[in-house]
Amino acid sequence: MKSVRLALLGCGTVGEGVVRLLRQNSAMFERKLGVPLELAGVADRSLKPIPALGIDKGLITRDAAALIGRGDIDIVVELFGGYEPARTLILQALAAGKDVVTANKALLAAHGGEIFRAAVKASLAVGFEASVGGGVPIIRTLREALAGDRQRAVYGIVNGTCNSILSMMTDGGAEFADALKQAQRDGLAEADPTVDIEGHDAAHKLCLLVTLAFGVLLEPAQIHTEGISRLTLADIDYARELGYTIKLLAIAKDDDGAIEARVHPTMIPARHLLAGVAGAFNAIYIHGEALGSSMYFGQGAGQMPTATAVMADILEIARHRLAGARGGAHALGYPVAHLKRARVKPMDDVICEYYLRFDARDQPGVLGAIASILGRNGISIVSVIQKGRGVETTVPVIMRTHEAREKNLKRALATIGRLKMVERPPVFIRIEERL
Ligand code: HSE
Repeated sequence: MKSVRLALLGCGTVGEGVVRLLRQNSAMFERKLGVPLELAGVADRSLKPIPALGIDKGLITRDAAALIGRGDIDIVVELFGGYEPARTLILQALAAGKDVVTANKALLAAHGGEIFRAAVKASLAVGFEASVGGGVPIIRTLREALAGDRQRAVYGIVNGTCNSILSMMTDGGAEFADALKQAQRDGLAEADPTVDIEGHDAAHKLCLLVTLAFGVLLEPAQIHTEGISRLTLADIDYARELGYTIKLLAIAKDDDGAIEARVHPTMIPARHLLAGVAGAFNAIYIHGEALGSSMYFGQGAGQMPTATAVMADILEIARHRLAGARGGAHALGYPVAHLKRARVKPMDDVICEYYLRFDARDQPGVLGAIASILGRNGISIVSVIQKGRGVETTVPVIMRTHEAREKNLKRALATIGRLKMVERPPVFIRIEERL
């Protein structure tokens, strides 16, 4: 091969970053590969290259399908995002003998089985380092560096938008709505932030982490997903008083074959390494049977960090191509045929410690009534704090529980919520004490 030739599908934020790296580092890439890495075509709706990128106008087309079908293309880099036409174009690229690099976590979480099977059939590679953790090389770490260990648990701060908003609430005392607006002004949150703030983006990423960590296939619908939009500053402040920080965590555990997979606001000890991960940073904390704990931290989004992950895949695939190797069989760390459907533990069976908040009338017998209902449901209390002194209105009563089964907790909270002396539905937040 005289060069390795790339087709770029989508020249938005990350695509632009890839073009910048190709230009800035072209001599280094040639030294690394022994041949030049060339941008052979760009499919983009706008057809308007940013002048600073220096893309030859003749390279740009609206016809992505025709571009990937060209005989001179080796690697197709899909950065359109979304489900279609990305899915169809990736399958077409594989059918046409091109390796693929993508950052599309939503697509891989929903259609990864189909895409990776097609890649294996064609003996081609699908690189997806940029799909989780932006510039944090967590895909390779799980697939390669940690391959010799049996993973037990994964705890990820994998959504920079949520982590920024939570940092503004925790460190800056902002209410959720104000923090969200600020994140939008800073260009961190999308105009429609639903996918991020309701936890769906983190759930897509967790699907991929679960497959790499535990060798099972998981769909987003199997993940219990809660976002941060209902979190209040009051709960963040009470959590701090109790020695905890609230993070949106993507959590997966392998309980001897039953997989726990959940995304939700989680209280973690304030002294834990994950609690110190602020702003748009991402971190993935992994517990392996032999290695013990390790953490991977860095820029979880943004143009150049995500572009470095895309480039790493391009270079690895280019090296394989140049060596005449066939790719694809182990992209997920296991032959695709060895991946089983995940047996997911129902949320009712999950066991956690809990933070509870009740808005209760300040009158004799309230605490006793609440404690007795918790007790009847097998839930043991670690500590209780009552805030302020209500005369006519209510006071917040904060409790922390020992480990309890979620089914029992929900039953107890439903009963407590019906008490006349308790106003508004009780609030609960799961605690991960021993991560
Ligand atoms: N929207 C994501 C985040 C970045 O906020 O982390 C892309 O995965």
